[in-house]
Amino acid sequence: MQKDLGNYRRSYEKSALIEDAISENPMELFQKWFYEVEASGGNDENNAMTLSTIGLDGFPKNRVVLLKKYTHEGFIFYTNYNSEKGKAIAQTPQVCISFLWPNMERQIIIKGKAEKIANNLSDGYFESRPEGSKLGAIVSPQSTVIASRDILEEDLKKLEKELEGKEIERPDFWGGYIVKPVSIEFWQGRPNRLHDRIRYSLQKNFDWKIERLAP
Ligand SMILES: Cc1cc2nc3c(=O)[nH]c(=O)nc-3n(C[C@H](O)[C@H](O)[C@H](O)COP(=O)(O)O)c2cc1C
Repeated sequence: MQKDLGNYRRSYEKSALIEDAISENPMELFQKWFYEVEASGGNDENNAMTLSTIGLDGFPKNRVVLLKKYTHEGFIFYTNYNSEKGKAIAQTPQVCISFLWPNMERQIIIKGKAEKIANNLSDGYFESRPEGSKLGAIVSPQSTVIASRDILEEDLKKLEKELEGKEIERPDFWGGYIVKPVSIEFWQGRPNRLHDRIRYSLQKNFDWKIERLAP
């Protein structure tokens, strides 16, 4: 079986990324791009990002998680701390996250260090989740092998009964990570494959070095 995709080709013409129009701080540019992507109609999930970790087996692994908050310090997502990614981060906190925003022909690639956020912040976010999501997070031993889907459904039913009318507390194996960036690369598609790439790299004095990369 095969399919030739050689004629999948598109000219990128929606925007440009020029040094004169960018801020000294990449988080400000991130925010500007995020707003522009939303304002232009957005994609299905603008906050979906690919998180790449180095696993205990030495292989990189990507998976999609949802960005739930960004601040001047970094990018926050929530997950199971005992999951494959949780174990990977415990051993190698250096991770990469990336966003693809096809509606604006943009990509952002962020290298940084992941660390657990404070418990009270994870509590606050867990509290804000719908009940079903809370129970689902508790019931699923994320990334472990399970015998069947039925087991999960049964465990969920049991837990629903057990916690009926009670407050559902965040389990300590579930919470947030913040990825504190050391490098952020902004990619803007341009015609004739001469795309714009601007990379910000964190310096020892906490300034950001700005460089243009060849496409
Ligand atoms: C659109 C989308 C959003 C997702 N958001 C999250 C998330 O925020 N947190 C999470 O733990 N998994 C999320 N997942 C599931 C992960 O991709 C992954 O399957 C899961 O975290 C287990 O990964 P691991 O075994 O590598 O640790 C999402 C998947 C998709 C497709």
